[in-house]
Amino acid sequence: MIAPHGGKLVERLDFSDRAREEAMELPRLSITLDEARDLGNIAHGVFSPLEGYMAREDFEDVLEEGRLANDLPWTIPIVKDVDEKDVEMLLREDEVSLFYGDMPIATLKVEEIYPYDRKEYAQRVFGTTSIEHPGVANLMNKKEHLVGGKITLVNDAPTDFPQYKLWPKETRVLFKEKGWKSVVGFQTRNAPHIGHEYVQKTALTFVDGLFINPLIGKKKRGDFKDEVIIAAYETLFKHYYPKNSATLGILETEMRYAGPREAIFHAIMRKNFGCTHFIVGRDHAGVGNFYGPYEAQEIFYDYPDLGITPLFFRSFFYCKKCGTVVNEKICPHGPEYHVNFSGTKIREMLIKGEKPPEIMMRPEVAEVILQFENPFVE
Ligand code: ADX
Repeated sequence: MIAPHGGKLVERLDFSDRAREEAMELPRLSITLDEARDLGNIAHGVFSPLEGYMAREDFEDVLEEGRLANDLPWTIPIVKDVDEKDVEMLLREDEVSLFYGDMPIATLKVEEIYPYDRKEYAQRVFGTTSIEHPGVANLMNKKEHLVGGKITLVNDAPTDFPQYKLWPKETRVLFKEKGWKSVVGFQTRNAPHIGHEYVQKTALTFVDGLFINPLIGKKKRGDFKDEVIIAAYETLFKHYYPKNSATLGILETEMRYAGPREAIFHAIMRKNFGCTHFIVGRDHAGVGNFYGPYEAQEIFYDYPDLGITPLFFRSFFYCKKCGTVVNEKICPHGPEYHVNFSGTKIREMLIKGEKPPEIMMRPEVAEVILQFENPFVE
């Protein structure tokens, strides 16, 4: 089995009554549902080797180098923002509780409180400071300070899809039981079109197992809703996927839309789940025209020590002359024969209540999506 990032799967859990009672007594910081889920990701090892929120040295090295202070690849800050009032409280306390509503999720040992420059963060992580970028817009609403320190989870955050919620410890057992020595991970924030299916199945041709791992959590307006993505994949699995070589499990964290840097982060999480390979296709984790179509592949050359093998794919499209799905590496015909799997076009058709053509989307998948009153995030 492939080693987790940093060598060991992090586990920072204490679900005892005593730990929960103590958490109720501590001073509180409130957190969002996405933050509560990311605490679970830390505590259950999805973010291994992180054991909490980054302190300043790690944060700055991640921005500047795309690595933790110990030089391990890491590209997205995992931090908690706090305001002046919180800072006053944190300066007095050694330990606080992180509450989602009236539920304590974790305790935090306060290690360091530090200011940061949101513009620099945006430029380094997203490659832009434009608030047209949804990740930057989100960042600009964050508070002015960060607090770093180790956390201990006392309650799991709620999930809407418990049947698909697997932690790395569980996926590692699952892959072993299935007898998969090599497993390719697939990140997605979309309901599947034919292009997605081709990327996955082409990759699966070379390895033992396929782990489809949709990202569930905060997304931008116009993206598919989580429940639509799950229903679409259930249908696709039922009709078109081999039971012994493909499986579905969710990853609950928000989309950052950080393109290349997020591709590395996505790969690291799948390594922790036990994947040996990771799919990176066209404009992975991109948004609008902020990144070049293959920038998210090129960044992997800066990380020969990542410890998971990326599988790169040129964009798949349908060629009318070939009569099948191809990409530029294998198709000799001109663009006049090509039909791209345009997410925008598919969305427009679905909004009008129309089924996209079968060369773009499986009819069973389209039918399931059309059953939702509004399949898209508002
Ligand atoms: S993402 O934001 O999660 O990357 P999406 O769910 O659309 O968006 O893509 C999931 C993965 O499939 C990414 O690696 C992406 O590059 C790849 N992909 C999507 N469409 C295509 C396509 N037509 N050809 C090749 N790869 C694709």
